[in-house]
Amino acid sequence: MKFQFLSFLSLTASAVALHPHSSSVVDDTCIAPGVCLPPTSSDYTKFGRTLAVPRKQWGDSGGFCGSLSIQVIGLSYGVYHSQDYIRKCAPKSDPLGHGDDDLGYEILHSNIEPALDNLGFTFNSWDWENQVHPQGKQYLQWMKEELVGGGGIVQFVICKGDAHNSYGPRRDPVPYDHIEPFFALYSKNSTSAVDADSDILVHGSDYSPDGEDNYGYFRSMGGILDSLDMDGNCDAAQAGYGKNEMYPCIYQDLTYGYSITGLKAGVETEEIGVFFDEIDEPDVRSGETVADLHANVIINGTVAGIKYTIERYDGVDNFPESGAGVVSTTTVVDGVDGGLTWKDPQGVPSDVSTMWVVTTKAK
Ligand SMILES: *[C@@H]1O[C@H](CO)[C@@H](O)[C@H](O)[C@H]1NC(C)=O
Ligand SMILES: *[C@@H]1O[C@H](CO)[C@@H](O)[C@H](O)[C@H]1NC(C)=O
Repeated sequence: MKFQFLSFLSLTASAVALHPHSSSVVDDTCIAPGVCLPPTSSDYTKFGRTLAVPRKQWGDSGGFCGSLSIQVIGLSYGVYHSQDYIRKCAPKSDPLGHGDDDLGYEILHSNIEPALDNLGFTFNSWDWENQVHPQGKQYLQWMKEELVGGGGIVQFVICKGDAHNSYGPRRDPVPYDHIEPFFALYSKNSTSAVDADSDILVHGSDYSPDGEDNYGYFRSMGGILDSLDMDGNCDAAQAGYGKNEMYPCIYQDLTYGYSITGLKAGVETEEIGVFFDEIDEPDVRSGETVADLHANVIINGTVAGIKYTIERYDGVDNFPESGAGVVSTTTVVDGVDGGLTWKDPQGVPSDVSTMWVVTTKAK
C-alpha cells in the first residue's frame, strides 16, 4: 500500500520534529481539510499514548505503513524498532503483501498479531471476524475504551481515491488502503459513551511532519466513519498520495485495529516516551546508509528530590524481557516537578532496536 512516488520520497530531506510553531498564517505541512492543532478547551483530558510523536515511513516494497505505526507506538513505551526489523518479525500470511522469508513480510491484518507478539508487545485486537455488521459504531466505542485505558491503536484506514483493497482477490476485497497510528484521544468525559462531537482522535499520516509542530491530525470521532464511496465524512478529503493519508476514514462496515497496551513481562518503567530529533530513518533497504538517530527520553510526572535511573539496552537480544538484560549505559538524573526530557548523548543506530527503561530505584 501507498508505494507510489517512492523516488520522490527518498529525496526529501529529513525534517526536525517538534520545531517551534511559527507565526505564519498558513501551515503548509497541514493538509486540508485536516486539523493539526489540539483543542484548546480546558475541559479536555488527553488519553492514550500521550507522549507519542508521528514519524515518516519508507515507501518501497508496498510501503512500511504498518511497521511505522508499530514503531511510533512502541517508542511511546520506550522501545525503538527499525521499520526493517518490524517486518522481519512478521510471518508469511494470507492475504500476502510484499516480502520473503529473509526480508520479512509487509504488516497486514493477517500477520500483525504474531508480529506484535514477536516484538514483545501486549495488545488487544478488535474481533473483526465475529462482530456484528455494520461494525463502525461499536468500533468507535472500543477505540475510546482502549485509548482511555492507555493503549495506542494500529489502525487500518481507507483513503480517498485508493482501491480499498489490500491484496485481496477482486471478488473479495480486503477493505483498507493504509495503516496509521491512532495514538491519542482528547475527551471531556472518559467514562461516557463516545461523544461524536467532542471526543477527538489524534493520528499520524506516516508522512510527518503532521503540521508544523508535528502533533498529528485531530479528528472528531463523529467524523471518521465512511462507506467505501467516501462521499460522507470523507467527502472533502483530497484524493491521492500526500493528501489522502492526512484525512482518512475508518470503514463503517468492517474494520481492523490493534491496540498496543504495553511490553511483555519483566519490565517496570516510569511513564516515558522517546522521540528523535529526526522524523525519519534512512531506508537501508533502498541503499541509504545507517545513521545515528538522536533520542530524547521524556519522563512524565517526575518529582523534585527524587533520582531517576535511565537504563539503555542495545539490541533485542540484550533487552530485559529476553532474560539477558545487558545494560549498555546507566544515567541518573535529578527529578524536577512535572516532567523532564533527557537527551541521550549517544547516537542510536537507525537499523536495529534500542530500549530505554526508567526507574526510581537507587542504583
Ligand atoms: C503526564 O501524566 C499525567 C498523569 O497521568 C497525565 O494527565 C498527563 O497527560 C501526562 N502528560 C503528558 C504530556 O503525557
Ligand atoms: C460522564 O459520563 C458518565 C456516564 O454517562 C456520567 O455518569 C458522568 O456524570 C459524566 N461526568 C461528567 C463530568 O459529565
